[in-house]
Amino acid sequence: MSMNSNYDAIASIYDSINADIDYSSWADFIEECFKRYMSEKPSLVLDLACGTGRMTFELHKRGYDMIGADASESMLNEAYDRAYDNEISDILFIKQDMRDFELYGTVGAICSCLDSINYLTEEGDLEKCFASAHNYLDPDGLFIFDVNTPYKFENVYGNNHYIFEDVDSNGTTAYCGWQNEYDKESGLCSFYLSVFSKTENGLYERNDEEQLERCYTKEQITDSLIKNGFEVIGFYSDFDFSEPDDSCERWYIVAKAKK
Ligand SMILES: C[S@@+](CC[C@H](N)C(=O)[O-])C[C@H]1O[C@@H](n2cnc3c(N)ncnc32)[C@H](O)[C@@H]1O
Repeated sequence: MSMNSNYDAIASIYDSINADIDYSSWADFIEECFKRYMSEKPSLVLDLACGTGRMTFELHKRGYDMIGADASESMLNEAYDRAYDNEISDILFIKQDMRDFELYGTVGAICSCLDSINYLTEEGDLEKCFASAHNYLDPDGLFIFDVNTPYKFENVYGNNHYIFEDVDSNGTTAYCGWQNEYDKESGLCSFYLSVFSKTENGLYERNDEEQLERCYTKEQITDSLIKNGFEVIGFYSDFDFSEPDDSCERWYIVAKAKK
């Protein structure tokens, strides 16, 4: 057994765990944001904290030039493998920290999906990330991201635990157990993951991993966006641009870089 960080234990089953996430509808929402809030649609888009690249590939399929950036080599390896399998060679995947990333030039839009922003857990991280995003956006470029809401941390993640079973045509290939610990005072939520992956001899190998998310309030996000040169266009609860209510679990946030 070994303790990992940086998604090393979970990268190979990450897409199965999140198989129900509808990236096509999510990409429709992103494109609708381009239509509503930009004078022309961007040609180059950065998928920040792209993970295995599901949104990166989805937007690439729709004709955008894509850069995918992530801090985890294991997640990027999954993205490289998918690019290789699909003979896609024109997506630039780079290993970068979203708090302080460097690109060759500016991009027309940045997206960051599936609560990646909650992985900014230390004091000042949010500011650093928003400052970098502003720095690399064209004037009036859009930053579209989502976060898990305080409601979700308190009422859904809480101190809950789950078991996930990864099944393919050969039967169960992995089990993943995870336990959450949420501390409302600090706003930090720890996820303790134990992944049991079937090996060639039929035995299961265990890998443990701890991940940490921070809960951000609407005010913290808004203040930090404004402080870093963004106009906040909206917080939405769904891809239909509906207004969030008190039990909304994910905010989809759209901001525009003012320069
Ligand atoms: C929940 S996953 C989301 C991945 C992807 N956006 C998706 O939609 O599946 C969070 C991702 O954030 C990445 N991440 C966490 N901290 C990061 C950092 N400081 N810089 C860049 N990536 C980071 C992780 O490696 C992981 O791939």
